Amino acid sequence: MNEGTSPMSKAPDSSRITIFDTTLRDGEQSPGASMNLDEKLRIASVLEAMGVDVIEAGFPIASEGDFEAVNEIAKAIKGAAVCGLARATRADIDRCAEAIKPALRPRIHTFISTSPLHMKHKLRMEPDDVLAAVTTSVTMARNLTDDVEWSAEDGSRTEHDFLCRCVEAAINAGAGTVNIPDTVGYALPDEFAGLIAMLFNRVPNIAKAVISVHCHNDLGLGVANSLAAVGAGARQVECTVNGLGERAGNAAMEEIVMALRTRQDIMPYSSGIKTEDITKASRLVSAITGFTVQPNKAVVGANAFAHEAGIHQDGMLKHAGTYEIMTPESVGLSKSTLVLGKHSGRHAFAEKLKDLGYGEMGDNAVQDAFKRFKDLADKKKDIFDEDIIALVDDQVLRADDRIRLSALEVLCGTKHQPPEAELSLEIDGEEKSCKATGDGPVDAAFNCVKELFPHDANLQLYQVHAVTHGTDAQAEVTVRLEEGGRTVNGQGADTDTMVASVKAYVNALNKLLVKRGKKGL
Ligand code: KIV
Ligand code: ZN
Repeated sequence: MNEGTSPMSKAPDSSRITIFDTTLRDGEQSPGASMNLDEKLRIASVLEAMGVDVIEAGFPIASEGDFEAVNEIAKAIKGAAVCGLARATRADIDRCAEAIKPALRPRIHTFISTSPLHMKHKLRMEPDDVLAAVTTSVTMARNLTDDVEWSAEDGSRTEHDFLCRCVEAAINAGAGTVNIPDTVGYALPDEFAGLIAMLFNRVPNIAKAVISVHCHNDLGLGVANSLAAVGAGARQVECTVNGLGERAGNAAMEEIVMALRTRQDIMPYSSGIKTEDITKASRLVSAITGFTVQPNKAVVGANAFAHEAGIHQDGMLKHAGTYEIMTPESVGLSKSTLVLGKHSGRHAFAEKLKDLGYGEMGDNAVQDAFKRFKDLADKKKDIFDEDIIALVDDQVLRADDRIRLSALEVLCGTKHQPPEAELSLEIDGEEKSCKATGDGPVDAAFNCVKELFPHDANLQLYQVHAVTHGTDAQAEVTVRLEEGGRTVNGQGADTDTMVASVKAYVNALNKLLVKRGKKGL
């Protein structure tokens, strides 16, 4: 008998898919994607506003920083459940429960490996002991909170009989959600759907829990496997913005949500996601982590709605449906709108800020942003929404900085060899200046920063991205620094690429200072 594909006896009636976002936990596990508390709070608030059902905010036992992030997100978020991850141990579960306590809807997500390979080599535990740990850990978690999710790590490579027994035990112990991860991205869509259908057919108490999936993208099948599982009865999908995550990442939230929205004919399921916020979330996560989105990435890539071939452009002019299966507006990609000019007033600017989602800014911050907008309008003729977003984000980033850029002059080009930079920084209120040369203008400017503020951090990434088109576009620079195992990403935006570069470097240093937790220099 094909145990997986026979008709499902206990498949759920509901067509609502719970979107569980793990950008802040699995996503942050991408090497180099570390985020600070403020950045995590900003992402969590965008996820909440876009209608994510569950935000996995971190792994509280992993570090003090992780605990604090989960705890602060639990305090701040009201519109989504806030979840923390815990292994199957008392210490993990207690720490997780403490971190999520302030949440309106707290969830503990506890997991243990169930595949033969993981049990033997990673856990060094016998299957019976793992099975007992499932019951103990879920029971422990249920004694601390009502909403408990249990995951079978490496579930897709677990023997079916054993997986059924573990799932049944987790549900008996009180898990309201049971997650089946394809931890190493090994499954194929039909096979994975078969696994989920098998559970619906064989686990006697399965109707008491929501079945969830968590698919990694090692073979590029994370989204396909997740959707196949939905077809087989899964009603929670775990995913991340831009597909961030361990190794090749997780299933991308924007792709899952847009596939559900676009193919209602085949998949009549709904999510609570406001898809118009997708672009905003994607850009925020990309700017904070320094992980750029490839231009041809589905849904959020720069070319996802671009039509280059003449035949395509002709078709689009006659009927957009010829080459467009979803509209740019449906993912929040408005045509770049020329917003304001040099002569625009403060009132129009404040209205624009509200339109762009910055309604909560105080009067002083609006005034400051307006002044910066006027400076930008003096340098750049056409100002677009993207310019305003970069300008405001740049201002928010620098609010509590101890090191600030005061002045920069760079001499370079064919007649100025080696390139030379003259830089002034304000460090804890004190103005310091120096001159340095380098292998290029960026190197010269960064050498100045190192001279003014000596440090041993290694530069791991230097990346420049144009905010809009044209040679007068603002440059958005990301700098990644690593020091003693700590990684930070700094950002800077300016019409002058050199200024944006130094701002990004200085921003990364400011973040390192916060991570070091030092008072003095
Ligand atoms: O990939 C995985 O198995 C996980 C679990 C902890 C859910 O991230
Ligand atoms: Zn994972």
